[in-house]
Amino acid sequence: MKATAIAPANIAFIKYWGKKDEALRLPLNSSISMNLSNAYTTTTAEFSKAFPQDTINVASDTSFTTFTHVLKNSELRIIAHLDRMRKLKGTDMRARVVTKNSFPAGAGIASSASGFAALTVAAAAALDLSVSEKELSILARLGSGSACRSIPDGFVMWEEGNSSETSYAHSLYPPGHWDLRDIVAVVQSKPKEVGSTSGMEAARTSPFLEARLAAIPGRIARVKKALEQKDIHALGNVIEEDCLDMHAVMQSQKPPLNYLTDETREIINAVRRWRSGGLAVCFTIDAGPNVHLICEGKDEQVISKKASEISGVQQIIVNKPARGARIVTEHLF
Ligand code: DP6
Repeated sequence: MKATAIAPANIAFIKYWGKKDEALRLPLNSSISMNLSNAYTTTTAEFSKAFPQDTINVASDTSFTTFTHVLKNSELRIIAHLDRMRKLKGTDMRARVVTKNSFPAGAGIASSASGFAALTVAAAAALDLSVSEKELSILARLGSGSACRSIPDGFVMWEEGNSSETSYAHSLYPPGHWDLRDIVAVVQSKPKEVGSTSGMEAARTSPFLEARLAAIPGRIARVKKALEQKDIHALGNVIEEDCLDMHAVMQSQKPPLNYLTDETREIINAVRRWRSGGLAVCFTIDAGPNVHLICEGKDEQVISKKASEISGVQQIIVNKPARGARIVTEHLF
């Protein structure tokens, strides 16, 4: 009753910010993302009648640190997720979970997406549940909304739905469809003060939320068309528009949330300069100050170099489009 899964983080081209049902994690709008090749979580889950309680460990290179000491809230979310999986199986067996990220903790890459996707797939296999990709996506969503997008392959759409059964993600294109890059310019590696879950609870207090929601269907259609035609300029226009719109909502919530720093703005300005100089690159930013630079594979080296030369950029993580969550044979314990 032991299995290991690997799941990618994902970067949203159309963002998820706000829920119509907090408990079910039903989003206010559909979203579109790309899975990331170089930012992933590996998770081993084992269930046994012999385990007196759940234990959850985050593996680092040198030691195992228990969540209890560092991330109390994350541990509770993981145990709640194990309870969902146990309920499906009709068992009360406790679990041992060990999880490891390919990217440094707090690198500003959402670990909840890759983390809950990997946990869902590993636990479902360990419990020998027969579940479809759609069901895995629904289960992952209950752990963390964006995690449902890390289940299918490549370029992914999360249909908002109006019930738990209708809110799930599916693949639009496999990873090989378009040789895109997400070059993450890391300017801050400490964990954010306000996480996405609590941050988006106040989304409705922003006077700009309704305008953003009204614009989403048109933007979804534009992203789909840009993906279909592999049109980097069209893609860039729409994803920057939606990203800045989400940050306008965040900044006008009550209390306001500002994730952008001077370094973030400097990179945004640099991207605009590079673009006027003829480079096809655009930016997108999640709930943190780090900037994701989206470009085509042929421009990877020049953009990585330029980004790493900006003062304040501590690290560059280059990602290609990737497959979704999957089972692997090598366990972490
Ligand atoms: C800004 O999926 O972390 O990254 O469902 O509460 O776990 P919960 O939120 P989460 O939110 C991600 C928000 C975002 C935008 C996005 O990835 O679409």
